[in-house]
Amino acid sequence: MRIIGTGSAIPRKLVTNDMLTGFLDTSDEWILPRTGIKSRHVISDENLEDLGAEAVRKALDMSGLDVKDIDLFIVSNVVSEYITPGMSCIVAEKLGMSCPMFDINCACPGFIYALDMAETYYKAGKVKNVVIACIEEPSRMASWKDRATCVLFGDGAGAVVLTEGDNIKGTRLHAEPDSEKIWMTRTLVDTPYVTKKEESVPMQMKGREVFRFAVEACTTGVEGLLKETGYTKEDVDWYMIHQANQRIIDSIIDLLKEPASKFPVNITDHGNSSSASCPILLDECNRKGMFKKGDLLVFSAFGAGLLSGAAVVEW
Ligand code: UT7
Repeated sequence: MRIIGTGSAIPRKLVTNDMLTGFLDTSDEWILPRTGIKSRHVISDENLEDLGAEAVRKALDMSGLDVKDIDLFIVSNVVSEYITPGMSCIVAEKLGMSCPMFDINCACPGFIYALDMAETYYKAGKVKNVVIACIEEPSRMASWKDRATCVLFGDGAGAVVLTEGDNIKGTRLHAEPDSEKIWMTRTLVDTPYVTKKEESVPMQMKGREVFRFAVEACTTGVEGLLKETGYTKEDVDWYMIHQANQRIIDSIIDLLKEPASKFPVNITDHGNSSSASCPILLDECNRKGMFKKGDLLVFSAFGAGLLSGAAVVEW
């Protein structure tokens, strides 16, 4: 398969580090050097599904395809106001799309997991055109009283349109299931029979341990996938890394011994937008005209699960 369209949509509300100091014991002096984040876009009066629909529309416009041409719609989403139906159905209804569709919840590496699934459908000969959309609102997961988590996240949606081709050179998925490193719970409707204690807890994260996992999983995943696909680091033009923390990206740059110029970043203005991070970065770089035909892009993302994944894509 190959990518023939990209799109993204970002909430209007921009929250700078300084704006957080009004209600949180934090500062730009702490946040910027520790994370690389200066500001993030968060949902205020928008609906997440509208951002998702906008990102898909932009990607479809670029591809020249119509919703009726799409054979499969995969949405990566961790939380939304809906428990059911899935975000794919909610967005598809807005777009008038009626192909088979489903949601995945693979947290930050959701884009790579979705690419891997799409590739499997292509290999099975079941699809011609596929849309992947990553539609995320992590600002509604962290407590805005918890300075260790809420400062990190921003919301948004990123989408790609895929068609037949052989530009996805390989994907590699990895899991180290551990529900203590990053987790969040919410209660369901009570019943006369439930006797156990349940509570809604906003996102909890063991930041340092996740940091270590991220650096290790990314470098191992990228080096392993390059080896599997027969490429070397010299062949790579761009590393599209999940935008979780500039220091994570810097550590990866050091370990891979690659020039920082191969690592585009947008974390400064976006923060971590979970699985939407990679496709938003992709769309921004694409619309700036950064990629030439034949460029080799390596995607890598990591997060809750713990899950990680990498993908090698020829532009
Ligand atoms: O999408 C994938 C999922 N997430 C990640 O990839 C995140 C990975 N982890 C990280 O990016 C980093 O661990 C953090 C940015 C979350 C935290 O950075 P850190 O250097 O690991 O800091 P820390 O958690 O060890 O905290 C150091 C200190 C603590 O104070 P004490 O206990 O030393 O007095 C924190 O309370 O910094 C304090 N702190 C803050 N201070 C001001 C934590 N958050 C803040 C804050 N403002 N926002």
